[in-house]
Amino acid sequence: LVASFQPKVLAGKRVLITAGPTFEAIDPVRGITNLSSGKMGYAVARAAREAGAEVVLVSGPTALATPHGVRRQEVQSAQQMHDAVMAALNGQHVFIGVAAVADWRVTNASAHKMKKQDGAAPPQLEFAQNTDILAAVAATTSVSGWPYCVGFAAESENLVEFGAVKREKKGIPLLVGNIGPHTFGQDDNTVILFDEDGHTVLPRADKLTLARQLVSEIAKRIDRSLL
Ligand code: CTP
Ligand code: CA
Repeated sequence: LVASFQPKVLAGKRVLITAGPTFEAIDPVRGITNLSSGKMGYAVARAAREAGAEVVLVSGPTALATPHGVRRQEVQSAQQMHDAVMAALNGQHVFIGVAAVADWRVTNASAHKMKKQDGAAPPQLEFAQNTDILAAVAATTSVSGWPYCVGFAAESENLVEFGAVKREKKGIPLLVGNIGPHTFGQDDNTVILFDEDGHTVLPRADKLTLARQLVSEIAKRIDRSLL
């Protein structure tokens, strides 16, 4: 089933991918998460593996099976995802941040399951901003030249304008914009690739088809940057 890529455009390359949602605890049995299913990130991991790469997938909670030949590390919170990515970063040629990482974590989570009390005030949650994993990885690239960093963005409006701005702000060579708002959990998607030359639309297709196209685009760009 790894026959889809001939030739194997990522043979000998190590690829690190984040996927799925994160889960930010409120107490031992409750938390805040989002609607990411992990389907796109898992499709990208599968496609990179098909293309011959050695793939590590750092995944938030999902109901998906690990793609064949891919090493999966499971995490829950954005902080755990950050730590797992940083620990795996050495020697990676490509980093693809597909995960829907929580922008904030709860700083006053309870160590015990919170109990409701009739008449008492509801709990007040407090938040702090999470570290931007993609930006942290991109910052290491300026030192070694690796890994080649790819981001994903789900915007609810002005995708073409916001996508180009987000790519520059993150300091990454390639950003994939989801044409939302109905992409989370779906099997199909339409995406726009943003790079330094502008943007290209990949027409609506199933996520594995788009993932394979993305892998080809990444391979082309790495080859070019090696010249
Ligand atoms: N990302 C990340 N770590 C975070 C937040 C986001 O690695 N703490 C990555 C995502 O995996 C994605 C990219 O950054 O590849 C863009 O995420 P997005 O939520 O669209 O952008 P933000 O920079 O968080 O900006 P905002 O949500 O305010 O639009
Ligand atoms: Ca965000």
